[in-house]
Amino acid sequence: MDKSALFKLSYGLFLAGTEYEGKKNACVINTAAQATSEPAQMIVTMLKSNYTTELIEKKGSLTVSVLSQATPLSLIQDFGMRSGRSCDKFEKYSYQTDAFGNPYLTDTMAAWMSLKVTQTIDLGTHNLFICTVEDAGNLDSDTPITYADYRILKNGGTLSKAAKAEEAEAAPQEQAPQKHYVCSVCHYEYDGEIPFEELPDSYVCPVCKMGKNMFEAV
Ligand SMILES: Cc1cc2nc3c(=O)[nH]c(=O)nc-3n(C[C@H](O)[C@H](O)[C@H](O)COP(=O)(O)O)c2cc1C
Repeated sequence: MDKSALFKLSYGLFLAGTEYEGKKNACVINTAAQATSEPAQMIVTMLKSNYTTELIEKKGSLTVSVLSQATPLSLIQDFGMRSGRSCDKFEKYSYQTDAFGNPYLTDTMAAWMSLKVTQTIDLGTHNLFICTVEDAGNLDSDTPITYADYRILKNGGTLSKAAKAEEAEAAPQEQAPQKHYVCSVCHYEYDGEIPFEELPDSYVCPVCKMGKNMFEAV
């Protein structure tokens, strides 16, 4: 099986936020999708090891907000590459809360949804939350960002078509395509200075802690 085929699936980028006993937290996810429209239901898949997942299980509700193309990479790092177990991720961000008291960011988000968990399915490394949409609203007119957009930005690219075309023209023609290594569990893309192949076998994904063998070349 060529697992890299799975990387061709398109995803958005979202923040899953919750609050339990006074502790509010959120993390970046790409695995949120609408499942049905009448009633409006969504599915959200989250790593069990995330602090946000632990709080959602206890609370039974969460917000999902949709990141727009105006979202700075620093926000994705703040919410997607460190854990709320050791910091207050909301410290420097403006937010509002839904009727359950769960937080969602207001700046650079395209929309927000308030979800109530109706079923939790154990998927091994992840929990799948099946949720009803209790409330929702639009925040920003900016276009939602996709996971593919995020990878372009992270590699120093730009999202405007004209700029992309210019970049392609300016790029040296005979360069060998560069291999990217992506964690098949949480989609973290390795960007260290040491070539991925030369990393020791003990290397683990800094985001979800899965082993080096879980990385795929794309
Ligand atoms: C681009 C990106 C996509 C991610 N997608 C998911 C995801 O779909 N599900 C998930 O559980 N974690 C995902 N993560 C990882 C969490 O955001 C990350 O582990 C975070 O530090 C967890 O924080 P917490 O411990 O405060 O909950 C993603 C991270 C990034 C940067």
